[in-house]
Amino acid sequence: MEVLKYPDPRLRTPSEPVVQFDSTLHRTLDSMATTLYGAHGIGLAGAQVGFFFRVFIVDIEAQNGGKARLFEFINPEWIHKKGSTTWKEGCLSIPGLNETVKRAGHIAIKYQNRFGERHKLVAEELLAVAIQHEYDHLDGVLFIDHLSFLRRYFVKRKLQTSATMMRV
Ligand code: CO
Repeated sequence: MEVLKYPDPRLRTPSEPVVQFDSTLHRTLDSMATTLYGAHGIGLAGAQVGFFFRVFIVDIEAQNGGKARLFEFINPEWIHKKGSTTWKEGCLSIPGLNETVKRAGHIAIKYQNRFGERHKLVAEELLAVAIQHEYDHLDGVLFIDHLSFLRRYFVKRKLQTSATMMRV
């Protein structure tokens, strides 16, 4: 699947809840996993591949070329977010950019799996951060939105410059 790249305005599209847990959903999730592992990312949201439904996948081992545990989150909702942690984040939709972002260090989330069954997960540190990053994509939020005003200004200028260069 093709991953939409910043500043594509479709990345700002809010995603709709999933109501049909059918073969179309399953095929899409399978293709997303192939895309995630192929790109050595640790998470991918539906919106990043033009599937504007509230789904994302996470495998925090994928960046090392491994397959540890693939989580599929459908219609996720926060139970709680606590504490804080900072990690250097990147995004498959914003290649070449890594920035330190502050997020909750401990989360609990409820979600459905691909069959519509309800689950809960408690996570901390990298897994918690990856889940928060992907959840943001469902609301059209990108990790650069969490940077300080000044940092965001510099980052946007840098991204605009590289976009200009790519048009040549
Ligand atoms: Co991302």
